[in-house]
Amino acid sequence: MTPYELIRAKRDGSALPPEALRNFVAAYGRGEIPDYQMAALCMAVWFRGLDPVELRTWTEAMLRSGGMLRGAPGSPPRIDKHSTGGVGDKVSLCLAPLVAACGVAVPMVAGRGLGHTGGTVDKLAAIPGFRTDLTLAEADRIVAELGVCIFGQTDEIAPADRRLYALRDVTATVDSIPLIAASILSKKLAENLEGLVLDVKVGSGAFMRRREEAEQLARTLVDLAWALGCRTVAWLTSMDAPLGAAVGNASELLEAVDVLRGKGPPDVRALTLRLGAEMLLLGRAARTLDEAERRLSRAIDDGSGLERFRALVAAQGGDPGVLDSPARLLGKLERTEVRAPRPGHLVAMDTLAVGLAEVRLGAGRTRSDDSIDRGVGFTVHLHPGETVAQGEPIFTVQHRPGQDVREVCQRLAAAVRISDTAEPVPPLFIARLEALRP
Ligand code: URA
Repeated sequence: MTPYELIRAKRDGSALPPEALRNFVAAYGRGEIPDYQMAALCMAVWFRGLDPVELRTWTEAMLRSGGMLRGAPGSPPRIDKHSTGGVGDKVSLCLAPLVAACGVAVPMVAGRGLGHTGGTVDKLAAIPGFRTDLTLAEADRIVAELGVCIFGQTDEIAPADRRLYALRDVTATVDSIPLIAASILSKKLAENLEGLVLDVKVGSGAFMRRREEAEQLARTLVDLAWALGCRTVAWLTSMDAPLGAAVGNASELLEAVDVLRGKGPPDVRALTLRLGAEMLLLGRAARTLDEAERRLSRAIDDGSGLERFRALVAAQGGDPGVLDSPARLLGKLERTEVRAPRPGHLVAMDTLAVGLAEVRLGAGRTRSDDSIDRGVGFTVHLHPGETVAQGEPIFTVQHRPGQDVREVCQRLAAAVRISDTAEPVPPLFIARLEALRP
């Protein structure tokens, strides 16, 4: 089948022969298929979708366009977590070392922030010297030593996905559930995993704003991962408010460290424990979710989770001492408050608008090559469901001395809805999905 025939077949709704599809995606990864033909195929997929066999073939071909981590025989089970992203989501930073401290290896390939969603790699890069560009060999060595590493996608990991994501970004084909699922799993499965926990966000600050779409993405991811031999569980969780209080890069890192110190906001701790417990269950390091959560809490209380995080920072080139001196991470900052214009019930927060205000402040990027300021950010003092007094601070903006933050403050003020009457707030944990036929 020629590339032209393959594109036409998908356009007309025919099933694609696996061999032809595999060859097309592999050839794209080697640079032998031009972008215009891949763009045409992605648009056909956007309209027609991929059936389960096509999706599996597509994902495997993307995965095989690069290398994989190794994982030695007899070493601890390898389980990871992936979040579809949101505002203030710093869970990976505390979760990965905590789970590793409980005997399950976490070889985590993480993302950079783009648009209104932050990225784990940017938060870690706030630590001077911390390397997120590990080679596969370096990542293998660190996982063998510490049971955990966190690094970014490089040319060694699913390079076809890297090229394709940039192409989808400029051809209006990002928001296709099969293409998203293939993209996420081609990177995650390069970690040579036995299990994966997915945190699929739903709400105003999520990639998927509506529950039905989020559920469809979660179902597609879970079934695809199982078909590729990776035991997987998904949680739908709320992104109708920023997670925790800190929004920014260094400030979110510090909040994740607070969780490892037994402090930190209750929602960040609860999500860390729940997702971590699922990871321990998949890694057979606990028999029930309750037992797993107790084990993780002990690793917070006895300091072993924090100790593992410090070891991770040192192994990846950073100075763990900065975790004890926030000023070294944040730099010189001034504070400006955004106060409630009236008393009442804070009933909703447009979390997309908060994320976009973060970009405007300089903590996030709109283009993948934008540079960011890792010290600036916000503190979110009040969340939906709380009452508010007139003049009470809802946000504190931490910005550079003299920085003009009027527009940022206006955006934040407009993101909040205050009402005379209380309204129900969606729960953090919305639903749990397992594979239909494990
Ligand atoms: N994240 C990814 O890694 N890929 C997508 O396509 C969308 C989100």
